[in-house]
Parts: sequence; C-alpha cells; structure tokens
Amino acid sequence: MPDTSKLRLGVNIDHVATLRNARGGTVPDPVRAALLAEAAGADGITAHLREDRRHIIDGDIDALMAQLTVPLNFEMAATEEMAGIALRLKPHAVCLVPEKREERTTEGGLDVVRDEVKLTQFIAPLRAAGSRISIFIGADAAQIDAAARTGAEVIELHTGAYCDAHAEGRFDVRDAELKSLREMARHAHALGLEVHAGHGLTFDTVAPIAALPEVAELNIGHFLIGEAVFMGLEAAIAKMRRLMEAAR
Ligand code: PXP
Repeated sequence: MPDTSKLRLGVNIDHVATLRNARGGTVPDPVRAALLAEAAGADGITAHLREDRRHIIDGDIDALMAQLTVPLNFEMAATEEMAGIALRLKPHAVCLVPEKREERTTEGGLDVVRDEVKLTQFIAPLRAAGSRISIFIGADAAQIDAAARTGAEVIELHTGAYCDAHAEGRFDVRDAELKSLREMARHAHALGLEVHAGHGLTFDTVAPIAALPEVAELNIGHFLIGEAVFMGLEAAIAKMRRLMEAAR
C-alpha cells in the first residue's frame, strides 16, 4: 500500500510564468518562485509545459531540473513532443493531463477508459526512464480501474468541480463532489495506487481534501500565487501547510 502517513504539498508555479509572459520579459521568474516555495516548505514543485507554451517555457523546465532540490512533478499532455522532453530530462514524476488549446485551464481528467491502450504504450518508456507516472483523472471508478491497468503508479483526483461548487455556494453539489472524491480516493488506494489531488484548492476548500486519509499529496498553484500578491508567497504556503496539517 502506498505510504500516506505524511501529506505532501506540491506547489504549482505556472502562474508566475503567466504573469511574466504578460509582459514578455523575464520577471517575475518562476524558478525564483520555486526556490522560495522550496524554502517555505513545499515538498515538490509542479510545472505544466503546455503545447502552446502559454506560461511555462522549455527553459523554465531545464532551469527547474538543474536547480531544485525537491522533486519536480512535470505536467504534460501525452504527446510525442512531450515524451521526448520527459525522456531527455527524466523528472522525478510525470503527471499526464488532458490539454485543449481553447481551454483556460485543465478542465477535466484524462479519458483513460477511451485511451487505455495508447496510454499504456505511452507510459512504459517513461517508467523505464525512472519517472513516476501520475494520471490526472475525475472521481470515477471505471477511469481509476483503467488507470491502474496502464502502469501508472499514481492518480491525481481533479478537485475542480468540488472547489467551483463551493465558490458558487452550491453546497449540496459540493458535498456530493466531496463524497465522490472520498469514495474514489479509497477505491484507488485499495488498488495500490498512490492518490494525489488538486485543482482550484484554496484556504477555504483544502481541509476536507487534506482530511482524506488515502491522499498523499496535494498540488496547489493558482490560489497560492494569487494570495502571494497580498501576503507573500512564503506566508501563503506556510498557511496552506498549517491548514493541511490541522485537517489531518
Ligand atoms: N494538478 C493538476 C494536474 C493541474 O493540472 C493543476 C492546474 O495546472 C493543478 C493541480 C493546480 O491547480 P490550481 O492551479 O488550480 O491550484
């Protein structure tokens, strides 16, 4: 069974790059943010190299690989181009996510049921190169069962619908989403998968997810980077950690 005794926090620094790219220059530097996050207690750094390079660019990933002392969770779509980059860099973890050019952010999980054969073939060389493979997925038993058959060691449950329902005050929907996440975390853990969760988490929504005993890691980005404007990145990360630990 995967070890879930300590809940890890992965900090996603994509949106420091969003801010940098708004002006096309070099500041704010996402690598500086990653090193600060590391010093503030992040257990890992997550960065998503999108096909359109809208935030993180190739040089950021190279610099993160060279400078981080905590593991890099390299988020990417299951494309040949990204496989080439991951096989060259061999990051600690690769998180496979769906990607649509027109979306503002990663809207849903991968359809592993539909793409099981393709994903199984895609994952094998990445695993052989030493990366841990995670699949970003909705809270759905058939998707989780398929993910377990692909050779992935980790699933990351998409918490976006739960967080959106909370923000919109639709608390019955939020509670139903939380129930699904709870049941599916248990289901995945029983299959021997390590369970991560993320997307849209805030100070207000993190506790019930952090309280799920099967969840080993949370990946949080947009809210922390936004909150850094008001309270500083280190303080925002420290507060998130306190809330996670208190919920555990
Ligand atoms: N986990 C995955 C797989 C993601 O794609 C994202 C968003 O890039 C996150 C976590 C973090 O989401 P947010 O930025 O909303 O905290």
